[in-house]
Amino acid sequence: MYLSRLRLQNFRNFDEQTLEFPPGGVAVIGDNGQGKTNLLEAIYYLEIFRSFRGAPDEQLVRFGEEFFRVEGRMRAADGTEREVAAAFERRRRKKKVTVGGAEPERLGDAIGGVGAVIFSPSDVEIVAGSPAGRRRFLDIVLSLAVPGYLAAVQRFRQVLFQRNALLRQGMQAALVAAWNEGLVSWGSRVVAARARWAAEVADSFAEHYARVSGGPRGVLAYDPSCTGWEGTADEPVEAIAEAFRRELERVAERETRRGMTLVGPHRDDLRFEMEREGAPPLDLRTYGSGGQQRTAAVALRMVEAETIRAVRGRDTVILLDDVFAELDPGRSLRIIEWIDGQEGGQVILTSPKPSDVEIHGGALPRWSMRDGRLAPL
Ligand SMILES: Nc1ncnc2c1ncn2[C@@H]1O[C@H](COP(=O)(O)OP(=O)(O)OP(=O)(O)O)[C@@H](O)[C@H]1O
Ligand SMILES: [Mg+2]
Repeated sequence: MYLSRLRLQNFRNFDEQTLEFPPGGVAVIGDNGQGKTNLLEAIYYLEIFRSFRGAPDEQLVRFGEEFFRVEGRMRAADGTEREVAAAFERRRRKKKVTVGGAEPERLGDAIGGVGAVIFSPSDVEIVAGSPAGRRRFLDIVLSLAVPGYLAAVQRFRQVLFQRNALLRQGMQAALVAAWNEGLVSWGSRVVAARARWAAEVADSFAEHYARVSGGPRGVLAYDPSCTGWEGTADEPVEAIAEAFRRELERVAERETRRGMTLVGPHRDDLRFEMEREGAPPLDLRTYGSGGQQRTAAVALRMVEAETIRAVRGRDTVILLDDVFAELDPGRSLRIIEWIDGQEGGQVILTSPKPSDVEIHGGALPRWSMRDGRLAPL
């Protein structure tokens, strides 16, 4: 499947525009502030129905307008087509999503319809930023890849919210503990999915990191807040649940004192490291150089692309937002090699510099972006 057509209406700095994309993709060249990232944000909006930049929907409505609408048409090799559309009305704060013209029962049923992965300069924040950003990454990927994950994480958050409210109000331990089973039941499913995914992609991440950097292997590891279980990929959910129960008991007193839930997936983290000879691995989150952190972020998106392709059983739409900025020429070249090796996938790339777009031997059609208007170059 590839994105064959995109219709934009009042999204960010776009007024009204319909674009026809070739199966292989395009390279979008434009100066700073012209709308390149906005275009990729619009496409990825059809994947997760929110901004990949974390912007609230109100901010996506073109200044002075009341609504935005994005429509995408996905086309398969056999000619079958499917429409995905999303619209948001500012005044009523109402979002409407349709797939093939019909509204899905839950938004979660409609996510992942494009099969897109976005590489962006802000990805470095996943590596270098707070654990919350790394958990957000996990939640998005696993919601797209694991059936039932989104529901589990949403239910977990609801229970956590209630439980924290009781703890904050200084409620009796027995009242707080009434929420433990819900917390454990949903939380252990979240933990199990995160552990399994991290174990599945660990090797691939290590290799991508090594190949892009032209040096040592990287390490991607899951650091669950709730320990006391094996921590292996095929740990049954029930074993995790039991460990979670034990941990909650252990910290119960401290939770009363601190007024919040102290163990659970809301305190998990992902670790990014680089192997070193004769020394312990280097923690890239704190000690990585800008380029090393960026490389880890790129390797992470590469394993995400593999995950999406594996679960969806089809090609991915790879969105590259100015990814070569700040990378040395060797690294840029090896990323290009990886992209070129993605058979059949569509690539939509943006850059302020025409020299950056040597993907597919420079064969991607070039479009210019100026003030929210796209035109062939
Ligand atoms: N809701 C909105 N309505 C109208 N314009 C907007 C809105 N939100 C952002 N913009 C404008 O969009 C432009 C930024 O677009 P974008 O982030 O896509 O730039 P870019 O081409 O990616 O630039 P860079 O190369 O610097 O990353 C800015 O000029 C900004 O003012
Ligand atoms: Mg940009």
